[in-house]
Amino acid sequence: MSQLIEEINKRRTFAVIAHPDAGKTSLTEKLLLFGGAIHVAGAVKSNKIKKTAASDFMEIERQRGISVATSVMSFDYSLNGNEYKINILDTPGHQDFQEDTFRTLTAVDSVIIVVDCAKGVESQTRKLMEVCRMRNTPVIVFINKMDREGKNPFDLIDELENELHINCRPMTWPINIGERFKGVYNLYEQSLNLYTPSKQTISECVAIESLEDPKLEEHIGKQDADQLREDVELLSGVYPDFDKQSYLDGQLAPVFFGSALNNFGVRELLDCFCQIAPSPRPTQTVERVVNPEEEKFSGFVFKIHANIDPNHRSCIAFVKICSGKFERGTYYKHVRLDQKMRFSAPTCFMASKKEIVDECWPGDIVGLPDSGGTFKIGDTITSGEVLNFRGIPSFSPELFKYVENADPMKAKQLARGIDQLMNEGVAQVFTNQFNGRKVIGTVGQLQYEVIQFRLEHEYNAKCRWEPIKLYKACWIESDDEAELKDFKRRKMQFMAVDKEGRDVFLAESGYVLSMAQQDFPHIKFHFTSEF
Ligand code: G4P
Repeated sequence: MSQLIEEINKRRTFAVIAHPDAGKTSLTEKLLLFGGAIHVAGAVKSNKIKKTAASDFMEIERQRGISVATSVMSFDYSLNGNEYKINILDTPGHQDFQEDTFRTLTAVDSVIIVVDCAKGVESQTRKLMEVCRMRNTPVIVFINKMDREGKNPFDLIDELENELHINCRPMTWPINIGERFKGVYNLYEQSLNLYTPSKQTISECVAIESLEDPKLEEHIGKQDADQLREDVELLSGVYPDFDKQSYLDGQLAPVFFGSALNNFGVRELLDCFCQIAPSPRPTQTVERVVNPEEEKFSGFVFKIHANIDPNHRSCIAFVKICSGKFERGTYYKHVRLDQKMRFSAPTCFMASKKEIVDECWPGDIVGLPDSGGTFKIGDTITSGEVLNFRGIPSFSPELFKYVENADPMKAKQLARGIDQLMNEGVAQVFTNQFNGRKVIGTVGQLQYEVIQFRLEHEYNAKCRWEPIKLYKACWIESDDEAELKDFKRRKMQFMAVDKEGRDVFLAESGYVLSMAQQDFPHIKFHFTSEF
């Protein structure tokens, strides 16, 4: 087998996603603990020293305790003599940064969704699942916080199926819940994992012959043993056997139960994940489908992060490798700029630590230092072929504000800061075609605070927000040139251009938009930049 194929088969690139507070950070940390990538989880507070979560490394995150940035964490894991290289792409938990999460989802091959057993499916879970469905991303569900009182597991599975529109197949099954939680039964390995609440140790696993094994009573008592037998019988009647292909097609979600905080049920999840989760999948480009096994290198930028290290004013473009081998110091083509460039210090990541790598393989995320704003989100680099990756759309923001310069001496810094932050995808900027004023569109209020904070701390510029009442930004197109021209003339005051120079209509209200749709029937109004 060639080294390329071997490396591809080893790779598992995925994201953990969840509604805020469901336990995404806790689970990510426990996965890193298993992988030996960190030795103390941020959640461990036994000695009363509260360490910041290893994945939050921007100053603003430390201040606010939320993951604003998406970091990449890699570790090696071996299971049954097979070696795996796991790449976890962390996503911001806060809903105001959901666009960042959506973009990250374009770079993963599968996801693990964390659901709180008491709260069930929440709004953010639903939205994230929609994005997964758009791309048929394979999904595994981890039902967390089983050490707390929560919903009945059968009801939870029904809720997942109904709300997330995906078939589910439990892979482990909980024995009781809350204070009476005794562990999980592994349905496919037929073993019992007994629960001992501990944040550090790994719980005890008991092999049992079958559910009739009297050892079951010994460990969990007669009542729970009977209940488990009854549950398992019901499960086998209701849910078909796990079908790996349906999972890979994004049609079926295996479900695990556990407690991330107590490091329970996480190993079952990780082991099964390694065995069933896809290695890097083919990527769709405008020109053709790119297979990871192709010898020639290609990759795309899905995230840009400015000033990772406040001491060095640097910008890093995160590139997902789609095919072939990436080598340090080799010349590659930057497709948009039609330029050859080479990278002498490509990096890979481990939370706030980064190290220079000589080679990377499909599925890996490589960070390319960029001091001159060379990269934009969606940019492609290849061994020479012209390829344009699809599917990093912008969505219409929910909130809009004019940005004004609050320090006339720092106009240049402000312009540069806004430019870079927008290239990074922190928010969207629309320049009004009528008066040239810049409107910043975001998903949530917090983004404005982050922009203001970063402009001040990273670019030494001050800004002020001014209100503007807008409903949506619509990217417009039409086959009828005359009508389009007429529309743009009539709506001049509300016409803007986005960062790419595309025409955007800033609709003041839902009513104005529906009137425009009526009056200009040939114009299509899109809420995403990609159509
Ligand atoms: P998030 O990244 O999805 O937002 O969730 P995070 O892991 O930060 O967890 C949110 C809260 O839920 C944390 O409590 C965490 O300790 C708790 N939690 C996570 N997993 C479990 C679990 O399995 N069982 C129980 N009982 N709690 C769990 P917090 O009070 O918000 O923070 P902290 O003070 O514990 O850090």
